[in-house]
Amino acid sequence: MLEIKDVDVYYGDLRALTEVSLTVNKGEIVTLIGSNGAGKSTTLRTICGFLRPASGVVRFSGQSLVTHAVHRIAEMGISMVTEEKRVFRDMTVFENLRLGAFMGKARKRKDETLDWVYKMSPVLQERSRQKAGTLSGGEQQMLLVGRALMSQPELLLLDEISFGLSPLLVKNLFKTIKEIHMSTGMTILLVEQNVHMALELADRAYVMESGAVVAEGQAADFLSSKQIKDAYFGVTTEECR
Ligand SMILES: Nc1ncnc2c1ncn2[C@@H]1O[C@H](COP(=O)(O)OP(=O)(O)OP(=O)(O)O)[C@@H](O)[C@H]1O
Ligand SMILES: [Mg+2]
Repeated sequence: MLEIKDVDVYYGDLRALTEVSLTVNKGEIVTLIGSNGAGKSTTLRTICGFLRPASGVVRFSGQSLVTHAVHRIAEMGISMVTEEKRVFRDMTVFENLRLGAFMGKARKRKDETLDWVYKMSPVLQERSRQKAGTLSGGEQQMLLVGRALMSQPELLLLDEISFGLSPLLVKNLFKTIKEIHMSTGMTILLVEQNVHMALELADRAYVMESGAVVAEGQAADFLSSKQIKDAYFGVTTEECR
């Protein structure tokens, strides 16, 4: 479904990605693992069209994305949530969510999706008439995920969406993502600080270092790899278990 091949991306003179290749098959959950600055967010931004590769191929359902505008890529069914994104502060929670479902296909299933979102985060239902700008940081984060889900994307890109959320919210969030994935088959490419959780959710994983992919494999194999554990599992994950 998504194919990235030999992609180089620069920020000015800085080469941020070097010959990155990866694929995400329809219905899969794939995670990108890597230290700070490894190029994970850059990869996701390139898929969405915020960055243009200097060379290489980015294809979605067989179509090249590299010349498409950001909004066109979104229309093709790719939706991204990052911790940098913002809610529409002066609109209510419900209005924010409804905006997520404005495109044709999503509109048809919007009531069903709204039920999912409210189940995932009852607080959004409780606050549905409240202005989004008055929600807490964590609640706004949940709203962003909810809004992306409302668009029923074919490919959902998640970049550290658990940032700043309480452990309980993170757990709910991951549980709901799994449920939605199982019921709709939504394809997901995920970057997550909690590598342990990401690997438990994912089918496959790629490891990035200094802008390049250095390993790939089944998530289950990485979960039991001491090397991966030592390098990427935070102290907190160990403490939580
Ligand atoms: N807007 C930018 N301008 C210049 N350099 C950037 C920019 N954004 C990222 N970089 C650089 O590109 C490299 C890759 O950054 P990227 O944000 O993709 O890493 P990351 O894997 O997402 O890291 P993190 O886990 O910290 O989010 C880093 O060296 C970073 O400093
Ligand atoms: Mg990042």
